[in-house]
Amino acid sequence: MVIDYTSQDFEKVLSGYDVVLNSQDPKTLAKSLNVLKPGGHLVSISGPPDPAFAEALGLNPLLKLVVRLLSRSVRKKARSRGLHYSFLFMHADGRQLEQIAGLIDGGALRPVVDKIFPFTQTPEAIPLL
Ligand SMILES: NC(=O)c1ccc[n+]([C@@H]2O[C@H](COP(=O)([O-])OP(=O)(O)OC[C@H]3O[C@@H](n4cnc5c(N)ncnc54)[C@H](OP(=O)(O)O)[C@@H]3O)[C@@H](O)[C@H]2O)c1
Repeated sequence: MVIDYTSQDFEKVLSGYDVVLNSQDPKTLAKSLNVLKPGGHLVSISGPPDPAFAEALGLNPLLKLVVRLLSRSVRKKARSRGLHYSFLFMHADGRQLEQIAGLIDGGALRPVVDKIFPFTQTPEAIPLL
């Protein structure tokens, strides 16, 4: 389903989802909780960072506390509805890419190629990313 965010409110149109990937502001993050079904996962790349991220970075106890506080509200809201919140910080991961390549080779994922550029036209391709 395609939703035009300039004229539709996704929160009113969608419901019962297993996963939401958020890349928007805190208001959209909060609204995203409403379209998940119990047990669902809200994953955000635009924050707030969560304690697991702080742990993975090996932050000192003070910064860990700050991170915990930053995400406290959304984690609390999620927990009270039986949902899960996590922050995702993207990084290059060869094993993950291998798994994704396997899904593509097996036909489970079908990449849609819009346009092919020769290597020499790489600068023209970058703005389309
Ligand atoms: N955690 C990580 O590893 C990681 C990695 C990369 C980026 N980020 C973060 O992710 C966020 C997004 O980055 P980006 O590079 O995608 O930003 P971007 O290039 O500015 O793109 C934002 C997109 O969101 C759309 N949008 C704006 N308002 C919306 C709304 N209310 N509902 C739905 N869509 C809306 C925009 O649509 P229009 O084209 O119509 O304006 C645009 O396509 C940033 O906060 C960035 O810091 C995190």
